[in-house]
Amino acid sequence: MKIVSRVDDLKRSLAEFREGGKSVGLVPTMGALHEGHKSLVERARRENDVVVVSVFLNPTQFNNAEDLRTYPRTADADAAMLESCGVDIAFMPTVEDIYPEPDTRVFHLGSVAEVMEGAMRPGHFNGVCQIVSKLFMFVEPTRAYFGEKDFQQIAVIKAMVAQLGFNLEIVECPCIREEDGLAKSSRNVRLTPLVRKVAPAIYRTLKESLRFAEDHSVEQTHDWVVTTINAYPEMEVEYFSICDGDTLLPVDSWDASDHVVGCITVYCGDVREIDNITYKK
Ligand code: PAF
Repeated sequence: MKIVSRVDDLKRSLAEFREGGKSVGLVPTMGALHEGHKSLVERARRENDVVVVSVFLNPTQFNNAEDLRTYPRTADADAAMLESCGVDIAFMPTVEDIYPEPDTRVFHLGSVAEVMEGAMRPGHFNGVCQIVSKLFMFVEPTRAYFGEKDFQQIAVIKAMVAQLGFNLEIVECPCIREEDGLAKSSRNVRLTPLVRKVAPAIYRTLKESLRFAEDHSVEQTHDWVVTTINAYPEMEVEYFSICDGDTLLPVDSWDASDHVVGCITVYCGDVREIDNITYKK
């Protein structure tokens, strides 16, 4: 595995690897790699001739300085995991490598980027689009891999790809969970033992809401999920949106769309956890 940090080294290495029109799979990450990332990398390995994984804690997508400061950093372990997965190129740049000049681009992507995380974390998706579009320009991948835990992020990236005309496939990969159902996340290591114990109630409640929804309205299901999770003193729902899975706009009845998803954000102590569930597809 080649580890490169400079953009021109990345491009040079890629030119050698991709000779003869080989397919390239890109897995963008912010490091602190876990089983969820591993499943993306393994899938990219199965589906492409060349695999590039970027490890870059992108400052422009953090609207909260404390979240950036406390985000886990495990570069050596990340490199070892990528090597063991048979990755060809690990791209591990510095902030100066990626942003030699401030990135002043502003993306206008409509409702998918404005609701939920877009409303709660102003600037977050603009930062995601800045880094992901740069990675797409540097790597020119055939396919790029993203986890469905970040349901809205995938919708935003797809909208960006359509708007900028990138010629690549976005591959959506299932959320990987702990045995007790908690979605794997780099931020899970920041949960206190007590909060870690109750956090699986998020996904358990979402799953139970599938049954509840069979004979209750959207509003009743929404309120039941929020009340059930908020009954744990350690957790507080920031938002739960039952929405159209394509526009991400809230629906007020189960018949309003053929694709209905529930997206939730919960404060578990001071750690923000996100998750989602599909009601209809
Ligand atoms: O999902 C993430 O880890 C990040 O948002 C991404 C896509 C790597 C961009 O920094």
